Amino acid sequence: MATQNILLLAGDGIGPEVMGEVKKIIALIEGKGLMAFSIEEDLVGGCAYDAHGVAISDAAVAKAQGADAVLLGAVGGPKWDGVPYEHRPEAGLLRLRKDLELFANLRPAICYPALADSSSLKRELVDGLDLMIVRELTGGVYFGEPKEIVDLPNGQKRGVDTQVYETYEIERIAKVAFELARVRGNRVTSSEKRNVMKSGLLWNQVVTATHKQGYEDVQLDHMLADALGMQLVRAPKQYDVIVTDNLFGDILSDVASMLTGSLGMLPSASLGAEDANGKRKSLYEPVHGSAPDIAGKGVANPLAMIASLAMALKYSLGKPDLADLLDKAISQTLEDGFRTGDIWSEGFRKVGTAEMGDAVAERFEALLAA
Ligand code: IPM
Ligand code: MN
Repeated sequence: MATQNILLLAGDGIGPEVMGEVKKIIALIEGKGLMAFSIEEDLVGGCAYDAHGVAISDAAVAKAQGADAVLLGAVGGPKWDGVPYEHRPEAGLLRLRKDLELFANLRPAICYPALADSSSLKRELVDGLDLMIVRELTGGVYFGEPKEIVDLPNGQKRGVDTQVYETYEIERIAKVAFELARVRGNRVTSSEKRNVMKSGLLWNQVVTATHKQGYEDVQLDHMLADALGMQLVRAPKQYDVIVTDNLFGDILSDVASMLTGSLGMLPSASLGAEDANGKRKSLYEPVHGSAPDIAGKGVANPLAMIASLAMALKYSLGKPDLADLLDKAISQTLEDGFRTGDIWSEGFRKVGTAEMGDAVAERFEALLAA
């Protein structure tokens, strides 16, 4: 049995708590003899800054480069509000994405039937929702140069960010979206603001051209990003795969998360290009942040972190069957009434992080035995 090298970067805030529940599931899989793991841990974000003066050390990046999958908790918190911009906690995450060339960020938004009433939208609008946002992750305004605040002769300042995309960046993310759509609902909606942005115009042209190069079996639509934001809260079930740039993808995926009941429910996968052996560099993380207000209290929702492990099993570790069972265990845990505070409502069983993790582990174990 091949040993899977996993790097755990728990990070800040609730990161270590939710990562603790993932460790339980990993131990369970290994204990059953289903997989063999070699687990390493390191620091990212504010905790790395405290220890090393940088948001991620070169050594940790090197470990990430060599791992079969990286699992990341969350970064950031008010404690580090005053650190120099280049060392802020988020810089650790951004460096990992860039250095590992994780250009494809998959953010599924699935509304578990048991949670349809927790959504801020009416049940009938979100019940059964299953959409996938494919966000470009290593380009656009996040990384474009110049990126600066400059002093002007008149005493004013000018803040500049640069939105920039080249053909190959759009082409490769479009291909990821088309290929994913083929194993889902076979529809892609590409989103940009070509009405005001040149990079949006190019995005639209390249996605359209890529579609003609062997993906015409997939249905392709284009929608301006503002209109898409509106449609996502009006009738989200009309979408299958949405492909968009780094910034729009960031915003639209936060919107999509609330359709599912809670930001605490959304996992994500960040993938690089396939190498000669068909392997991709990869990082899995919940979409939620470090939630400093509830950190250390044992009340955080670990389901997005556990669902991120499920995505790792599916996309990096060659175990889609285990991934499906783990997703099923999460779904059953919700059906059985377990709720952390973020998704709790009257009549349900309010539990903390560890109890939620245990409930998933118990159901996962039963499903493995079945
Ligand atoms: C996300 C986060 C990050 C982003 C932050 C923490 C840099 O919001 O993963 O969505 O903006 O990409
Ligand atoms: Mn975000």
